[in-house]
Amino acid sequence: MNKLIINADVTRGHIRKTLQGHFAEHLGRCIYGGVYVGENSDIPNVNGIRTDVVEALKAIKAPVIRWPGGCFADEYHWQDGIGPKAERKRMVNTHWGGVTEDNSFGTHEFMELCRQVGCDPYVNGNVGSGTVREMSEWVEYMTFDGVSPMADLRRANGHEAAWRVPYFAVGNENWGCGGNMTAEYYANEYRRYQTYVRRYSPDAPIYKIACGPSDFNYEWTETLMKNAGRYMDGLSVHYYTLCSNDWQHKGHALGFSREDYCVTLKKALRMDELLTRHTAIMDRYDPEKRVGLVVDEWGTWYDVEEGTNPGFLYQQNSMRDAMVAALTLNIFNKHCERVHMANIAQMVNVLQSPILTEGPGLVLTPTYYAFKLFSAHQENELLDSALLAEAGADGLPALQESASLAPDGAIHVTLVNPSPDELREVAIVLRGKEATAAAGEILTGKMDDHNTFDAPDTVADRPFDGVAKAEGGFTAALPPCSLVHLAIR
Ligand code: AHR
Repeated sequence: MNKLIINADVTRGHIRKTLQGHFAEHLGRCIYGGVYVGENSDIPNVNGIRTDVVEALKAIKAPVIRWPGGCFADEYHWQDGIGPKAERKRMVNTHWGGVTEDNSFGTHEFMELCRQVGCDPYVNGNVGSGTVREMSEWVEYMTFDGVSPMADLRRANGHEAAWRVPYFAVGNENWGCGGNMTAEYYANEYRRYQTYVRRYSPDAPIYKIACGPSDFNYEWTETLMKNAGRYMDGLSVHYYTLCSNDWQHKGHALGFSREDYCVTLKKALRMDELLTRHTAIMDRYDPEKRVGLVVDEWGTWYDVEEGTNPGFLYQQNSMRDAMVAALTLNIFNKHCERVHMANIAQMVNVLQSPILTEGPGLVLTPTYYAFKLFSAHQENELLDSALLAEAGADGLPALQESASLAPDGAIHVTLVNPSPDELREVAIVLRGKEATAAAGEILTGKMDDHNTFDAPDTVADRPFDGVAKAEGGFTAALPPCSLVHLAIR
């Protein structure tokens, strides 16, 4: 039988809640329709922001939202998105579908979204087409409480108090859509721009994030750490899981084969290699692990749903995506010493979304439920754990796991059985703690099970009855394609 050993008295790092963050870009129907419907909409809203989406995000304790992009960030000029809405500039969203962006969702609306959700804002600044002054003034506008041109402008626009901006990124994908820069050139630009990202209050630090590599580009990390490491708090990295190696034919979100399922999960598991290798480089420049890796874009990326705007990146979401989310979130937990934040791409209606909307309708996807089960790990201490597992199949491990210790003494375990068709049994052996009870939830289904607006409850978590007390711990039986969360007390 598979054996999971948990050393309940050995901790391996702190699991920041921000490992379960979100990303919301002005792309397709993420912001407009997905988050923001305007004050005059029939869809229930508070100050224009959908109440159903806010409630869904609160229920999974969404800790942080990154905005306004993505590629959009390096084309965004924040001054276009403040002041009376009727007077805001209309622009073309050249990256994403060439649609008109009316700027009705800007800085104030984003901060209002974060207020309603109760999460931290993570603002991404513009390096590609913006100036140092523009970035500097945005930070002043948002965070300065005294008398200054930008703070006064904020007040004139109806917001008296400064906001907290705990996370700020200096550009996005500057090796590509953010200006096609070389690593050396961007490192210099980063040093210059970040100088003027001022911390206006000692109580409101700003964690500055430099643009990091795309997936396996280790040279970028090397150069950034060497040339600019001491000026940053975080270095981003983006990794998308495709079902093929061809960006023109990425595979379908639904109706995929068993082989596609296994290939997708194997690719998602490469996140571990990627984090290990970027961490190894960072360790040479920053052995104290002061600088965090910020995986501020990750998730599955398939061909867009037929009949939808190709520039909107809308895709359905199945149990396969929930498995990708669960495997990835377990990997983040295991790397929590170096990984400070991660943001799934994207929060609503784009790529691997936890939430889909259609007019007034809302669907919680299998990925949403994976996040729900993982929320038990937020702000816990990672526990040392190891799987002595039987051989897996199809190139996938038999099981995958992470375990954490909550402040109340409970141990939380998230166990994944990625097999599309085999049940897996596991003996959970606890060392360093006596436990009497284990209970939790399961998320399972066939690999392409999903929720639709007509059938929104096909996939959802339910109480898990496959766990039993045993000598030295517990035993659990995980059906194929399943994620189980257990709270052990
Ligand atoms: O998430 C979609 C896009 O993917 C983002 O805008 C960009 O940063 C990345 O290439």
